[in-house]
Amino acid sequence: MLSKILPALRGVLAENRSLPRLIKTEAKGDEPVISITPGSEDVYAEIKQQLPASQSHAVTIAGYGTYAAVFPVPGSGGRAAGKIAVVTGAAQGFGYEIACSLAGEGGWVALADINEAGVQQAVAEINRELGREAAIGVTVNVADVDSLSAAIESIVKSFGGIDLFISNAGVLRAGSVKTLSERDLNFVTDVNYKGYFFSVQAVAPIMALQHQGAPDIWSDIIQINSKSGLVGSNKNGAYAGSKFGGIGLTQSFALELVADGIKVNSICPGNFYDGPLWSDPVTGLFKQYLDSGKVPGAKTFDDVKAHYEAQVPMRRGCTTPDVMKAIFYLMEQSYETGQALPVTGGQVMLS
Ligand SMILES: NC(=O)c1ccc[n+]([C@@H]2O[C@H](COP(=O)([O-])OP(=O)(O)OC[C@H]3O[C@@H](n4cnc5c(N)ncnc54)[C@H](O)[C@@H]3O)[C@@H](O)[C@H]2O)c1
Repeated sequence: MLSKILPALRGVLAENRSLPRLIKTEAKGDEPVISITPGSEDVYAEIKQQLPASQSHAVTIAGYGTYAAVFPVPGSGGRAAGKIAVVTGAAQGFGYEIACSLAGEGGWVALADINEAGVQQAVAEINRELGREAAIGVTVNVADVDSLSAAIESIVKSFGGIDLFISNAGVLRAGSVKTLSERDLNFVTDVNYKGYFFSVQAVAPIMALQHQGAPDIWSDIIQINSKSGLVGSNKNGAYAGSKFGGIGLTQSFALELVADGIKVNSICPGNFYDGPLWSDPVTGLFKQYLDSGKVPGAKTFDDVKAHYEAQVPMRRGCTTPDVMKAIFYLMEQSYETGQALPVTGGQVMLS
């Protein structure tokens, strides 16, 4: 119930086009007290009816405790100041660096990953680097509905709601259509396609509740897709298919969720050579492609990289700062939804 009450309360307590973070606190005794019917169908209406017009910055919810509303300090800056963000697949790679950037820009960030130890280490690094408790970590399998709903519930209990959801968790099993196993196809489809669907299913109701009380404030869902969601990928059909499907979901969700003040967009990055997916010395794609002879004549990782960079008009791979510019554009652009934005150095051009 609390994961419905807190987002609705955020909307009611919104000020200056900003939703507060809600933090559990000690009651002073002078806060308004609200009481929500267990299983209520309209939590927002019950809160609105009980809260006095002169709003307090702390509210006691009968049976759940007292919550304080915390707004960003005016002038504290940052392009994500006061925003509550969730990044899936954030223990490493793009997800980790996106989480670092959002926290560095003043956001509260929940890192969600199937790698429990990795995500806790990532959170510790961000908080140590910034000198504030900007990040929390949750273990989640985005391909599992129950795991996702438990993760979202625990994030909402910590922060009060969610303003920005980055669906980044993704996996790749390359292989020919003639030989790829059903198991590998299911693995890629479950994480990349169904995981995105389940993620939006879990987070959209939270964002919708916030929007009820604050109809001027919009939330963002951004899927980290791929250039392989826009053009086919040779001997990589399971991955490309899952990413093409993701764009179909983005367009469909955008049409539906506009009514709840939620923008839904995808970002389609080019190859990210600096991340572990490519550069891990044991499991990375440079090693795999070198060993399998996929790049004719290549003798080193650098030869493999040069082969792929030569396919990019700008002659380099994608970096997280390139992706962050797209994320901030989509967050700040109030008049766009349902788009798939390439960040590929010109390798993929939209028609
Ligand atoms: N690396 C690239 O070249 C590249 C290019 C374009 C798009 N992308 C996309 O960017 C996203 C991130 O890629 P990356 O290169 O950082 O990958 P990565 O392999 O470095 O990291 C992926 C993270 O997702 C986590 N994860 C995997 N399955 C999960 C699950 N079921 N539930 C929760 N977490 C899970 C992993 O533990 C890992 O921390 C993916 O969606 C990928 O398709 C990557």
